Amino acid sequence: MNIRGAVALITGAGRGFGRAFAERLLEKNCKVVICEIDSTTGSKTANELNNLYGDGSAMFIRCDVTKSADIDNALKKTLETYKKLNILVNNAGYLTETNWMKTLDVNLKAVINFSKKALPILKQQDEQTAIVNISSAGGLFPMSENPVYSASKYGVVGYSRSIADSIDSDKMKVLCLCPSFADSEGFLKELKASENYKTIKKDVESLGVLKVSTVADVFLKALEAQNNNGAVIYINPFEISYKFPHKLKNSKL
Ligand SMILES: NC(=O)c1ccc[n+]([C@@H]2O[C@H](COP(=O)([O-])OP(=O)(O)OC[C@H]3O[C@@H](n4cnc5c(N)ncnc54)[C@H](O)[C@@H]3O)[C@@H](O)[C@H]2O)c1
Repeated sequence: MNIRGAVALITGAGRGFGRAFAERLLEKNCKVVICEIDSTTGSKTANELNNLYGDGSAMFIRCDVTKSADIDNALKKTLETYKKLNILVNNAGYLTETNWMKTLDVNLKAVINFSKKALPILKQQDEQTAIVNISSAGGLFPMSENPVYSASKYGVVGYSRSIADSIDSDKMKVLCLCPSFADSEGFLKELKASENYKTIKKDVESLGVLKVSTVADVFLKALEAQNNNGAVIYINPFEISYKFPHKLKNSKL
């Protein structure tokens, strides 16, 4: 996909992976919408990015991805301001087993809802478009201590592969990234503070911790690559690999 000049909307982009994805895109002359529930982080990030990449290159929209009206508003404001939408990145995520309904709401239902609302817009564009969904290594392998988080992320993999399979245009693609533990600001801290961390600790220590920048590099490469609609990409400190055959058309599965 040619991403130069594209407009991207990234959920949960106030910090962590989302912010790093925004920076990669801004380096390619894209415009980015920082779609964030936390107004302080969201507006601070958008201001910093505008200072770095030029006024108007980033815009903050306060959005709780679990609220349909907020999604509608984010899409409306993006189109009003930038006149088009090329890339949707469903990145906002949450990790808790205690409030497990919320984990499903943020990590899975919101990804589906945002995609459903954005798909008709993306399909209408004359230019190339993409949806990038951020799952997790927990969407490929079991997480005995975080079964609901894992289920939500398996759901993202399944949903991404299924909508990718329904796309019949060379102009559009759907990608899904599955990183292992990474040194983002919130996620690892939340994991370490979680009730189960004692058990997870050995996995974190044996697998190691990814740099956010490594995941952002893969994100950019995958977006710019050709013919990879449906790709599910596993990223850990030792390996970056496609997890499923991504030529799904006429699949006999
Ligand atoms: N960091 C890791 O180890 C890791 C590994 C695999 C997958 N992931 C996934 O990557 C994604 C990003 O994680 P991160 O590590 O950058 O986390 P993070 O906590 O640093 O950032 C997540 C951002 O999402 C925002 N957010 C949370 N709920 C929201 C909502 N309802 N609406 C809008 N924004 C909301 C938060 O305010 C925060 O700014 C998540 O989906 C996470 O599950 C993270």
